[in-house]
Amino acid sequence: MVEKLFPAILDEAHVRKRGKLLLGPVNSKLDCEGITILLGPNGSGKTTFLRLLHGLERCRDGTLSWNVDNEEAFRRQAFVFQSPIMLRRSVIENLAYPLAVHGVDRKTARRKATDASRQVGLGQAQERNATVLSGGEKQKLAIARALITKPDVMFLDEPTTNLDGRSTREIEQMLLDARENGVSSFMATHDLGQARRLADHILFFYHGKLLEDQPADTFFNAPASPEATSFLKGDILE
Ligand SMILES: Nc1ncnc2c1ncn2[C@@H]1O[C@H](COP(=O)(O)OP(=O)(O)O)[C@@H](O)[C@H]1O
Ligand SMILES: [Mg+2]
Repeated sequence: MVEKLFPAILDEAHVRKRGKLLLGPVNSKLDCEGITILLGPNGSGKTTFLRLLHGLERCRDGTLSWNVDNEEAFRRQAFVFQSPIMLRRSVIENLAYPLAVHGVDRKTARRKATDASRQVGLGQAQERNATVLSGGEKQKLAIARALITKPDVMFLDEPTTNLDGRSTREIEQMLLDARENGVSSFMATHDLGQARRLADHILFFYHGKLLEDQPADTFFNAPASPEATSFLKGDILE
């Protein structure tokens, strides 16, 4: 029986760099299925929070604890950066790589990679070097690569910023499909329309603090804080 990753409990969690407070204090119990969208002005702490949840930042004070030990939790997660990082190898090899890291034999890895490349519309581009793909193709490949090991949780940091409408739509569909397959996603975005289309749950950040942690309907219809109310109205928040 595989244990659940959730809940993740943050107790007085802070992230600091060179003495500067980037995030915190955060006190929260996250138990999110489906798609959780992180909102908040620039610099409010969304990226730092995603990185903290995935073990890329450490708590300086306070604690983060997943339901399983943190090293196992981080292994059962995947992270998609705003600018996808591609291996200078073929599309297939990019997809097969994380499977090889997980000890999957070469033949099975190649078969799964081939299937995944077709699913994201890169069947014709299988042998192309991933570094020459378009921005949208690279990001789709990055998400397919993140999902290929069947993580429990996927973190995405503004993956559709700078992409055209078609690529954005395809990526949103990938998140919806992942949800169908039981993957929980946490995605930062500054596209409110995208948040409304996708979110089951909203985390709203302001000045390094998690101000709201709400079901999407509640957040959009009746935000609790004046900051979120202003943010939803489109006001500039300082
Ligand atoms: N590497 C870093 N060194 C110092 N300060 C940073 C670093 N990365 C982010 N910050 C600061 O941390 C705060 C939170 O940033 P971030 O998590 O990137 O916010 P968001 O993703 O919501 O725009 C901001 O004040 C930002 O300027
Ligand atoms: Mg950010």
